[in-house]
Amino acid sequence: MKEWKASAPAKIILLGEHAVVYNKPAIAIPVNDVRAFVTIKTDSNSDVPVIRANDLDIEYSFKKKSVPKKIEHIAKAIQLVKDKTRSQYPYKGWRLSLSSDIPIARGMGSSAAISVSLIKALYQFLDKDLAQSLLIDLSYELEKFHHGTPSGIDNAVISLESPILFQKERGFSMFRSKTFHFVIGDTGIGKNTASIVKNVAERYKKNRASCKAIFEAIGSVSNQGLDALRFGQNEKLGRLMNLNQSLLDELGVSSPELEHLIRQSLENGALGAKLCGAGKGGCMVALAESRAKAGKIADKLIQAGAKQTFLTTLKGVNKK
Ligand code: PMV
Repeated sequence: MKEWKASAPAKIILLGEHAVVYNKPAIAIPVNDVRAFVTIKTDSNSDVPVIRANDLDIEYSFKKKSVPKKIEHIAKAIQLVKDKTRSQYPYKGWRLSLSSDIPIARGMGSSAAISVSLIKALYQFLDKDLAQSLLIDLSYELEKFHHGTPSGIDNAVISLESPILFQKERGFSMFRSKTFHFVIGDTGIGKNTASIVKNVAERYKKNRASCKAIFEAIGSVSNQGLDALRFGQNEKLGRLMNLNQSLLDELGVSSPELEHLIRQSLENGALGAKLCGAGKGGCMVALAESRAKAGKIADKLIQAGAKQTFLTTLKGVNKK
């Protein structure tokens, strides 16, 4: 039996979500300890490929005609890699298993991490080289399948496993950050990115001037945040996160549950806090002075009703 393995991290958008859709800069960081995993194994007991999605408890054999909707994205990745490399998969019987520690639909990049780990494992299986730029392009194709018109920030930060400044029409730049400690709190409420992005677009159509000003202000927060990260300015970054949160709230993408966790974190010593991702549910992120303080804030968030929390420390280029 032969085996190929790949994984990809979760991510959070630290500053700039939504405005990034309107070509403003945003900052995203990987969350390296929370990951999606893909394993491909040869399987002499089967003469067709089999997909197993462990978290969804779905197993699908290519003998059956239609792929279950919940794992269509996996079949899509298999086809995309086959077409792109113009190759045939080398064994008749093989088994692809997918599992992920990243909560689904919470703004932590679950779909992009699954896409990136699938592409990496399938390229290894086909014994083909995969340049980072191609990984970003292919994972963007799969993101479009999930979300319609994504900005591209999620699949870029997850492919690169490094903090990035991202701007839609300029692409990304990696940067070296000083050390920062964050706690992520999950409201436990799933959200639909495509529909929230659509709501913002409708708001923009109706209130062009005010939305434009919000996007402009968020873009400026991201640019200032880049300096704060590069120069280790904890308090400044915290203030920028708070400012970003009030701008996102003005845009109508916050929620009482997010506000509640954000307030709890600030009352318990966070230097700044905001929702992360599309909003209206999903996760919030708070900045703490130290890992120990992040742990204390995490405990308070659980007491305040968070479904789960994650601690993450950002350091350097942050590649695993
Ligand atoms: O919640 P997520 O991880 O899907 O992030 C959405 C981020 C948005 O800026 C709202 C949309 C995008 O495509 O960048």
